Amino acid sequence: MNLTDFIQHMPKAELHVHLEGTMEPELRFALAERNNINLPYKSKEEMLEAYTFHDLPSFLAIYYAAMNVLQTEDDFYQLTYDYLKRAKQDNIIYCELFFDPQAHTSRGIDFETVITGINRAQQEAKQLLGVRSQLIMCFLRDMSAESAMEHLHMAIPFMDWLVGVGLDSDEKGNPPLKFEKVFALARKLGLKLTMHCDVNQENTLLHLEQCLEDIQVDRIDHGVNALEDEEIVSKLVQRQLGLTVCPVSNQFVVQSLTSNEIRAMLDKGLRVMINSDDPAYFRAYLNDNLIALQQEGAFSADEITTLVENSFHASWLSTSAKQAYLSQLNSYCLQHQAISA
Ligand code: ADE
Ligand code: ZN
Repeated sequence: MNLTDFIQHMPKAELHVHLEGTMEPELRFALAERNNINLPYKSKEEMLEAYTFHDLPSFLAIYYAAMNVLQTEDDFYQLTYDYLKRAKQDNIIYCELFFDPQAHTSRGIDFETVITGINRAQQEAKQLLGVRSQLIMCFLRDMSAESAMEHLHMAIPFMDWLVGVGLDSDEKGNPPLKFEKVFALARKLGLKLTMHCDVNQENTLLHLEQCLEDIQVDRIDHGVNALEDEEIVSKLVQRQLGLTVCPVSNQFVVQSLTSNEIRAMLDKGLRVMINSDDPAYFRAYLNDNLIALQQEGAFSADEITTLVENSFHASWLSTSAKQAYLSQLNSYCLQHQAISA
C-alpha cells in the first residue's frame, strides 16, 4: 500500500470544518432554485471562477455572500447531511462541526431553524452512515460582544446539542479579550472553548497569549504563529492543547501548505493535527489536505499517524470514546505495517 492509499483509508477525525464552508456549488444552485434566489452565475465553473481570495477578508466576503441561499430548516439539514456523507468518503469517523448562527440570524433566519436542521442531520448521519459528530457554535468576532452574548443565551435551550463555542471571522482589531465575558459564561454552561488564531494576523502573539491566559481555551484553531514564541510553545506543550491546522487554507494566505511549520510543531511536541476549514471554497477535503501536505513535506507514515492520532486526543469526547477510536486507528496501522513489511 502506498502512502496515499494509507492516508485515504485511515480512520480519521476532523475538528476544524465550518459547515457553511462545505456548501458545494451544486448545493448552492439547488438551494437558490428552491428558494427563488437569483445567482449571478450560469454554471459551476463560473461560480468557482468567482471564488478568488488571497487573504482572510477577501475569503470571508465571498463566504458570507453565498449563505443567502440557506433559508429553511431543510436547507441546514441538507448542508450538514451532505458534508457528513462526503466526510464518510474520506473515512472520517468522527467530526466536530463549526456553525456561524449570527451569519443567519442577521439575515432574519431564526436560531432554532438553523440548529434544528443541523442537529437532525447529525442524528441521521450517525444512524445511517455511522459518522458521529458534535457541534461547536462560533461567534463572529467582527460583530459585538453583546451580539455574541445574546446568541449564547439563545443557545441555552439547546445546550445538549452543543459541545463547545468558537470564535471566527475577521481577526484584525478583534482580539480574544473582547469576548472574555461571553467565553466565561460558556464555560460555566459546561461548554468547551476554542478560538481562531488565523495565520499571520496582526498581533497574533498577543492573541495567542490572551487565548492561553485570559480565556483559558481548550484548543486553538490554526495557531501556526505560536512557533515564533518559545514561551507560548512551552505552554502549549505543557497543556497538550490541540492546534487545528488547515494546510490548504493556509496556502491562500502564505502560499505554502506550511509543511515546514507543521513538521516543526510535531518536532517540538505540539499537539497539531490536520483539517480542511472550508473545503467547498478551498477545493480540498481532509484527505486532499493530508495527501498534499505529505507530498510537500515528504511526511512519513509515522508522522501522518501522529497527526491523525492527535485529532482523536484533542477531540472533545469522553476518555473511553477516544480510546475506542484510537484503538481502531491503531489496528488499521498495524494491518498496514503487516502489508508493507
Ligand atoms: N470562517 C470560516 N472560515 C474561517 C477562517 N479560516 N478563519 C476565520 N473565520 C472563518
Ligand atoms: Zn476556520
